[in-house]
Amino acid sequence: MKILITGSNGLLGQKLIEHYKLNTEHTLIATARGEDRFANKGGYTYESLDITDASEVARVLTLHQPHAVINTAAMTNVDACESEREACDDLNVNAVKFLVQTCNEIGAHLVHVSTDFIFDGTHGPINELEKPAPLSYYGHSKLKAEQIVMENATSWSIARTVLVFGIVSDMSRSNIVLWAKEALETGKPIKVVSDQFRTPTLAEDLANGCALIAEKKASGIYNISGRDFMSVFDLVYRVADFWKLDKSLLTISTSEGIKQPAKRPPITGFRIDKAINELGYNPRTFEEGLALLDEQLKK
Ligand SMILES: NC(=O)c1ccc[n+]([C@@H]2O[C@H](COP(=O)([O-])OP(=O)(O)OC[C@H]3O[C@@H](n4cnc5c(N)ncnc54)[C@H](OP(=O)(O)O)[C@@H]3O)[C@@H](O)[C@H]2O)c1
Repeated sequence: MKILITGSNGLLGQKLIEHYKLNTEHTLIATARGEDRFANKGGYTYESLDITDASEVARVLTLHQPHAVINTAAMTNVDACESEREACDDLNVNAVKFLVQTCNEIGAHLVHVSTDFIFDGTHGPINELEKPAPLSYYGHSKLKAEQIVMENATSWSIARTVLVFGIVSDMSRSNIVLWAKEALETGKPIKVVSDQFRTPTLAEDLANGCALIAEKKASGIYNISGRDFMSVFDLVYRVADFWKLDKSLLTISTSEGIKQPAKRPPITGFRIDKAINELGYNPRTFEEGLALLDEQLKK
């Protein structure tokens, strides 16, 4: 199959490049805004593509005629989405319309990546049938995009994920595991919330899940996250435990106690039985994910 990914400089995007460099029976077209930031180039085709430009989306997708498109590009900074609403709409909503339109024209299957932040977080872990009720502008934008995909795309799937962690080169954004590890290693005290619950997702597992969906042209919504449900405080505690860092630097906080512009859903986390049973998705445990990250950090 020929697979085209958007946002290939991002965390998920770069893990998808790594995935397809190993799975050479498929041809990969990686696209991102500006220059290719993947460190070990070769084995795939790169095209610069800003997905907010409708004519460029049409040109690049029509030129390459992919069988499937995986849309990983998004404005992922939840607090920035709250204050920069127009930019958030342009990328998280309007650009998705351009992708849907061209995918329909060329007969490509669209895999759109979405989030647990479309929910209000009253309970968890949740399955694919839960009713969305976003609390933040980011959540609203991602829900609108899901609706555009579901209502207009001819062949589509939505891969929803939760709190992604991992490392790639030249990252535009950190993540909770790297943030906590670095703070504790440098002796910095940190406040961590104990009233938010998630199923943290290793970026490699998310890439595998998205690739399985694309290659099977699976239809509908799939929860693609880690398998372990925990509070964010517990997550950071387990990070400290894994790397034998000083846990006395951790202070428990409530969500109220840390000032963040955008509201986060208190309890999410996903049930992933559907992806396991229908796709053969098989994510690592949280500690197995940390072990892989540890190997990568040592290289
Ligand atoms: N990270 C999480 O915890 C999380 C949780 C739930 C869902 N998700 C979803 O998972 C997906 C992948 O997230 P991620 O963690 O890989 O995020 P990421 O690392 O922030 O990657 C997003 C990528 O999109 C790129 N991008 C921005 N504007 C673009 C444009 N106009 N055209 C093309 N690319 C553009 C960014 O480029 P630059 O690098 O140049 O800025 C960035 O590389 C997103 O849909 C996100 O909503 C993520």
